[in-house]
Amino acid sequence: MVRVLFVCLGNICRSPMAEAVFAHMVEQVGLDGQIHADSAGTGNWHVGEAPHSGTRKILAREGIGYEGRARLLIRDDLDAFDYIITMDRENLRNVKALGQGMAKVVSLMEFAPETNVEEVPDPYYDGRFEEVYRLVTQASEGLLNTIRREHSL
Ligand code: 4NP
Repeated sequence: MVRVLFVCLGNICRSPMAEAVFAHMVEQVGLDGQIHADSAGTGNWHVGEAPHSGTRKILAREGIGYEGRARLLIRDDLDAFDYIITMDRENLRNVKALGQGMAKVVSLMEFAPETNVEEVPDPYYDGRFEEVYRLVTQASEGLLNTIRREHSL
């Protein structure tokens, strides 16, 4: 099983959106038995909460289910996952500050270089959930292609 963890700050807007979109794509290509997705936040304010309504509305509209609850990123995640995929530079810095593990730590937007966008913007204060959805969808395709190539799936 290839394990992928999406990380943002609160684990209620961007990383659950990325997790759900990516898991949906994985399911559509029949690889859900081989690739597992999860998400976590570097901050603990929203632990236990369902995703933000902005994320929930878009996922519902797209017919993508999501049952996850926010949790905090822990040091053990760095060894429990093969890929840790961060949304912005701050997340990347915070993951790296926990130390080094088995996981490859990569920024999500590296998988969509054609966008020339380096970070998934935080929609918590400005409501840019549609932009987040567009970016995570584009980059998730690239991420899935990379994982399939690296693991011969
Ligand atoms: P996320 O968005 O990192 O995409 O889940 C945020 C959620 C909550 C907060 C900040 C960003 N907050 O400050 O509570």
